[in-house]
Amino acid sequence: MPTYGRLPITFDRGDGVWLWDQNNKRYLDALSGIAVCNLGHTHPAVHNAICKQSKKLLHTSNLYGIAAQEQLADQLIEKSGMENVFFSNSGAEANEAAIKIARLYGHQHGIDKPCIVVMEKSFHGRTMATLSATGNAKVQDGFSPLLEGFQHIPFNDISALNRAIDQNDNVVAVFVEPIQGEGGVNIPEPDYLNNIRKLCDKHNLLMMLDEIQTGIGRTGQFLAYQHNDIIPDICTIAKALGNGVPIGACLAHGKAASILTAGKHGSTFGGNPLACSAALAVLETLVSDNIIDQVEAKGTQICTNLINKLKDNQTVLNIRNKGLMIGIDLSKPCTELVEMAHQKGLLINVTADSTIRLLPPLIINSEQIDLLTDTLSDIIQEFTTH
Ligand SMILES: Cc1ncc(COP(=O)(O)O)c(C=O)c1O
Repeated sequence: MPTYGRLPITFDRGDGVWLWDQNNKRYLDALSGIAVCNLGHTHPAVHNAICKQSKKLLHTSNLYGIAAQEQLADQLIEKSGMENVFFSNSGAEANEAAIKIARLYGHQHGIDKPCIVVMEKSFHGRTMATLSATGNAKVQDGFSPLLEGFQHIPFNDISALNRAIDQNDNVVAVFVEPIQGEGGVNIPEPDYLNNIRKLCDKHNLLMMLDEIQTGIGRTGQFLAYQHNDIIPDICTIAKALGNGVPIGACLAHGKAASILTAGKHGSTFGGNPLACSAALAVLETLVSDNIIDQVEAKGTQICTNLINKLKDNQTVLNIRNKGLMIGIDLSKPCTELVEMAHQKGLLINVTADSTIRLLPPLIINSEQIDLLTDTLSDIIQEFTTH
């Protein structure tokens, strides 16, 4: 079905930050399949784990114990400070689990029509519940009736959250991305998550974080909330967890940890041996190669290079980052930059019409960063001066 506005390129193979198309042209991938291939393409540890597991067992069922799933859950719990994990196959499904937990939590507290506060400009997925939670009219257009039980408020606005909670007794949870990805790389005030935590504690609400894009080292911590001194009640991850093998997870803590009981949720493929073995290799590599500790410096190198090269360009309004999640605002719509970058062998993305989004693999090196920023700033100069 023509669900994607595809670009006229088909990739044939990849290695690290590089991709080659069918004509053998090489591209520097500064998008990582939208924050998925954080370890780069065809990482040997992931490749070996998948090969090894596929010789033993691909799939059984969640009717039985799955050793790799248990190991992965233990490791995720250790890294996140959370308590329980439900495994899915995608980000939207991880968020569906979170939404179901919030609704059950509401019903357990005598609330018949539970309401989840969500943010304008957010993105949570394309299923009916997650698109209803998403704060983007384009994503919702044509799919009414949307699911009830979501109230949208402005992002990064604690007073708006306070008001929403005060005015609606049915609020059971707050669901938010630590940094909005699809909405334009919107980075909130440093104490935003701390303040949400305080309000959720005060009103006995679930604090639910969508870390599907920000997670697995992207911002310089394993999970973005670890920049703050908090633990959410729910945290969803997917994308980079399997470095390209589909897997997602909904992590829960404290009052949210034991809400989903037997029979309340499930997935045929969720957490199967193949996907979990890939994710275990990802987590092991992040530690063995000390990858996350280098993310902040790499993000700074990218932004410093870009600021140096573009500081006199009046069309460039803002260059910002948290680790290797980078946004560059232009004063005019700039989707044609994507095609210009392709011509020069660079993969980038434009979101929210006028924000260039970079999500390079976390393993990008200094020389590759210089190539990326040289190429990108040349393209931006060309685009803005013509
Ligand atoms: C923050 C966020 N949540 C949820 C999703 C949906 O994930 P998936 O496409 O795996 O369903 C995405 C995907 O872009 C995302 O960025």
